[in-house]
Amino acid sequence: MDERLKERLQVLQEAELDTLAVRSGQVRTMEGEHAEPIFLTSSYVFDSAESAAARFDGSEPGNVYSRYTNPTVRTFEERLAALEGAEAAVATSSGMAAILSTCIALLKSGDHILCSRSVFGTTTVMFTKYLGKFGIETTFVTATDAAAWKAAIKPNTKLLFLESPSNPLSEIVDITAMAALAHQHGAWLVVDNVFCTPALQKPLALGADLVVHSATKYLDGQGRCLGGVVAGSKVLVDEVLAFIRSAGPTMSPFNAWVFLKGLETLRLRIEAHSANALTLAQWLSQQEKVEKVFYSGLPDHPGHELAKRQQRAFGGVLAFRVRGDKAAAWRFINATRLVSITANLGDVKTTIVHPATTTHGRLSQEDRDIAGITDNLIRVAVGLEDIEDLKADMLRGLSVL
Ligand SMILES: Cc1ncc(COP(=O)(O)O)c(C=O)c1O
Repeated sequence: MDERLKERLQVLQEAELDTLAVRSGQVRTMEGEHAEPIFLTSSYVFDSAESAAARFDGSEPGNVYSRYTNPTVRTFEERLAALEGAEAAVATSSGMAAILSTCIALLKSGDHILCSRSVFGTTTVMFTKYLGKFGIETTFVTATDAAAWKAAIKPNTKLLFLESPSNPLSEIVDITAMAALAHQHGAWLVVDNVFCTPALQKPLALGADLVVHSATKYLDGQGRCLGGVVAGSKVLVDEVLAFIRSAGPTMSPFNAWVFLKGLETLRLRIEAHSANALTLAQWLSQQEKVEKVFYSGLPDHPGHELAKRQQRAFGGVLAFRVRGDKAAAWRFINATRLVSITANLGDVKTTIVHPATTTHGRLSQEDRDIAGITDNLIRVAVGLEDIEDLKADMLRGLSVL
């Protein structure tokens, strides 16, 4: 390694988030390219049979096969680890692959997961339907009820899992308290940091053991690619990595490159998303036909003070209940013209969705009731369009109620 590169790596050790977002993890090739290249190769050539054997048995460092390592994917992993303040990170083909790989790598039959009720619907399905099939049981508790978390701990509880802020009601969970609870019982705390990203919240610094992401959302930021990542201590990430190498839910190098470009503007985007969402939440809460707005940036939200302590801003996702029933919520959504009716979020383009019949449609009515996903609830993932144009589109929705 040349002197300048060695010293640059040292400088990066001390660097701040904005610098890490554009610089960390990059190793230039002999071509001297300025931007990160995409290594679209499934395998790598060895100098000799001896070298091939040494790469395979691990005695010689270097690439072997892209299910194991890929330079573009590695740059993304190192950059994300730097942003989350993690020792290591491993990339996956999607956010769900990150969650599944974490659970399969760390848990075994007979173990118990304690999970917030307010997590992404597919996570709930995966835990109950699929992990349950292999003897891993899950108990769901109200995200913000610390006593319920404590009461639900069992001797075989190995993993606590939560999202904060939650989707779609913006519930805020005290990550420091949950980490303490997990560790007191010899369990790990895994936090899905999709809604904040490391630009707003660093769960590892608050005591979590692992962070998982759907890179598909704000890390990309422009709705292009699917991907995921798991970050944390090297010991735990190595366990997940070993599973991924065997099972194959690896990130594609092209997607890793897209995410690298996304990370470069992450903080700027998430702050702009947060500013637009706050203004829209304040405006919606003044509208007669809106029953209630859920956004932790509003002072009357129960998680407001905790969100201020735990996060740098409140994020881009808000939800609101219109006065009326499911038909009214659907009429509102159908009357919009600018925003996109789609379940994705974390995009520069604003999206709108009816959670009860889409993202949370697979939950039972009872579970939806407990989680507060009522039929008149609408979720908006606020993008970067002009705020006045967004308000005008919401007015189109309000005008048909
Ligand atoms: C909070 C959260 N976690 C995980 C996922 C799953 O990510 P992916 O769609 O990349 O598999 C999503 C997707 O919407 C999500 O919103």
